[in-house]
Amino acid sequence: MAQQAVRIGIAGLGRLGKRLAGILHGQVPGATVVAAASPAEDERRWAREVLGLADVVADFEALLALPGLDAVAIVTPTSQHSDQVIAALAAGKHVYCEKPLALDVAACERVEAAAAAHPELRVLVGFVRRFDPQYAAASAKIRAGAIGAPYLVRSQTLDKLDPSGFFVKFAPTSGGIFLDMSIHDVDCARFLLGDPKAKRVYASGIIAVHDGLAACGDIDNGVATIEFEGGKLAVLTASRTLASGMEATTEVFGTAGRISIGYGIKDGGLDISDAAGTRTEGIPTFWERFGAAFPVELEAFVRAVREGAPLPLTLADATENTRIAAAITQAYRTGQPVDLA
Ligand SMILES: NC(=O)c1ccc[n+]([C@@H]2O[C@H](COP(=O)([O-])OP(=O)(O)OC[C@H]3O[C@@H](n4cnc5c(N)ncnc54)[C@H](O)[C@@H]3O)[C@@H](O)[C@H]2O)c1
Repeated sequence: MAQQAVRIGIAGLGRLGKRLAGILHGQVPGATVVAAASPAEDERRWAREVLGLADVVADFEALLALPGLDAVAIVTPTSQHSDQVIAALAAGKHVYCEKPLALDVAACERVEAAAAAHPELRVLVGFVRRFDPQYAAASAKIRAGAIGAPYLVRSQTLDKLDPSGFFVKFAPTSGGIFLDMSIHDVDCARFLLGDPKAKRVYASGIIAVHDGLAACGDIDNGVATIEFEGGKLAVLTASRTLASGMEATTEVFGTAGRISIGYGIKDGGLDISDAAGTRTEGIPTFWERFGAAFPVELEAFVRAVREGAPLPLTLADATENTRIAAAITQAYRTGQPVDLA
């Protein structure tokens, strides 16, 4: 008899949650969305009307109390993630949680302890770049020795300038630009350099455009350096103000070569030639760049739940990413290097 589909309840139907709900509700073999939670009435209506769900509730605890859920997908504001993962594990649910797992290491460690008490449950924190074909191919080539010993990552994530005020509204629960955005580059650096341990970080930043970020101590442009044990380095740039579009690019330097990831990706952007010359249309958001990697990531989660397939990313990875990104945030705020060893 065919195995039953994994029945998923999704929490958070905002910018990303609606998209992940759509993927889980038809694009991932062996999965189905059976319930949703959001405090926003318009999001609950969307779940009823677009997903056709009957079980749509206003809060996370009510979602966990519904009968028949095997797993939850947590796509809520970052500040809620760790408590929700712990509650879901206590309720016996497998968990997919968006990045970052938490804003501080103590909360990540509480999640790790809760997961250790439930070894029968799978937990995946969504560092989606590991599932992007270019990042995955680069990792495989580096592991096969294509550039010798990798020693330096230069990685940048740049969001398109959005004058709507979205980034200012998003900032109070996101942890700030380094914990929200550079954490992707932190994960890539660790993943592409062979998981070295971070020793020390440095950071600085500015507000170039979004003055409203000052109210919660956030910035819209930042740079950070991570020194790893064993003489490896990563240099990261983050921006919310690139006029032309979203960019996520990474270079890995090794003793016998260099691999560059994400350059020249257009994802539908056209080349336009006119009297001023030729230009390429920019990518509007992270979705046009990484949208195809989310189904791959969610398929890996569902396979892990159904078949016990191994996950390519552990909770310890998610904790380490938060440890480094939180230290970078502290280095920016204090103007001092932060030791992690
Ligand atoms: N992997 C990526 O590239 C990527 C991209 C975007 C966002 N994210 C992550 O996804 C998460 C959500 O980001 P977003 O951009 O969709 O934010 P968002 O603000 O657009 O959406 C969050 C939604 O959660 C809902 N919500 C709030 N509290 C809730 C609760 N207790 N239970 C259920 N729903 C609740 C809100 O109504 C809101 O719509 C963040 O943690 C963010 O870091 C990851």
